[in-house]
Amino acid sequence: MTELRVVDVVEEQLDSVWEVRIRSFGPGGDRDHWLKIARASLEDGRLLGVVDGDELVAAARIWPFEQWWGGRRVPMGGVAGVVVAPEYRGRGVGSLLMRAVLRRCADKQYPLTALYPATTVLYRHLGYEFAGHRYKFSFQAADLRRLGGKGTAVRKAGRADADLFLKLAGKAHEARRSSGPLIWPRTEVESWLEDENNFAYVADDGFVVYNWSDGDLAVDELMAGSEETARALWATVGSGASIAKTVQAYCPPFDPIHLLAEHEANGDTQINRWMLRLVDAPAAIATRGFPDGVVLEADLRIDDPELTANTGDWHLSVADGSGRLTPTDPSSEALRLGPRGLAALYAGTPTAALRGAGLITGGAADADSGLDAVFGGPTPYMLDYF
Ligand SMILES: CC(C)(COP(=O)(O)OP(=O)(O)OC[C@H]1O[C@@H](n2cnc3c(N)ncnc32)[C@H](O)[C@@H]1OP(=O)(O)O)[C@@H](O)C(=O)NCCC(=O)NCCS
Repeated sequence: MTELRVVDVVEEQLDSVWEVRIRSFGPGGDRDHWLKIARASLEDGRLLGVVDGDELVAAARIWPFEQWWGGRRVPMGGVAGVVVAPEYRGRGVGSLLMRAVLRRCADKQYPLTALYPATTVLYRHLGYEFAGHRYKFSFQAADLRRLGGKGTAVRKAGRADADLFLKLAGKAHEARRSSGPLIWPRTEVESWLEDENNFAYVADDGFVVYNWSDGDLAVDELMAGSEETARALWATVGSGASIAKTVQAYCPPFDPIHLLAEHEANGDTQINRWMLRLVDAPAAIATRGFPDGVVLEADLRIDDPELTANTGDWHLSVADGSGRLTPTDPSSEALRLGPRGLAALYAGTPTAALRGAGLITGGAADADSGLDAVFGGPTPYMLDYF
């Protein structure tokens, strides 16, 4: 083994990346689709690798997402396809690669990064922590069919509606003060909408995208700005009840469908957890939204061994739905936390849980309820896996 180096993957190395992927995730997958995404990533400096001499032995990709936090958009680097060749595992190659990924996220000015962990150990060492879930519920199709909404006009949608879908989703997430959902690049939204296996419908204030999945119907996203539209769109999916007995749906646990459907979701809910890390703490605080009418002044002492620009004494001010993190003098009353505590706090994990896990210590006696109030809100969730 020569000295391992982190590189920007180039076109000639894509076959090797694919080979390491097969060894890591198993055979299958759409190679052409992967190649398209990999090429777009490498052209934009978002595909990193590790080489041993000339041999590519590890790779990781970064999606240029935005993510809703408190009803505002925050740029987020979504880390995917982290793979190390089997013969190189267990000797720090994954960590070397992920450190470079963090630096690249900082260079790209993403205040946040997130990922779905196959193993938490690697990512926790580098400051990621659990921040939210992706839920898949299943409902009886017959229940959805009966939801009505027949007075609402629903039309078939396609590629040309990508901007409209993004606009409708954005309006709803702002109004709901969502935390967690992703905003995909428009090119991806276009390719879902032109995929003949996806069925997309749009109403004045909502849309649905669904497809067939192993004999069931599966809703990837349903966004409705009113009860009538929710009824109409769910009923459109449920109209398949003569063939599909079950409709699977990616949605949060507080989605109105739970209050509209006659029977509760089946007991087979699937949950995946995703992790978050703050890359640039002041930018992450300044960009997200906070609940209106909640005010907080608190000192923080952040120790971030990987991204040292976050390390220091900070003052957090929250008022009028916005927050600021500014450098300040050391204080004996400062809340002490590292990147994992910071990520979990940002995502609204109750301070009692963070203290219970040792992820925050110290702080003014009365600060916890204020922190819970400013970072709390609708539970963070994602609809998509990446
Ligand atoms: C997961 C993977 C990327 C780790 O790469 P690696 O080069 O072995 O990682 P490192 O040697 O830098 O290990 C970093 C830490 O993670 C731990 N770790 C690595 N793989 C682990 C696993 N499968 N289970 C538990 N801990 C693991 C290591 O023990 C080490 O922790 P330690 O210092 O406390 O011992 C690699 O095993 C892999 O490619 N696996 C298959 C694909 C995959 O699961 N990718 C992740 C997708 S999110």
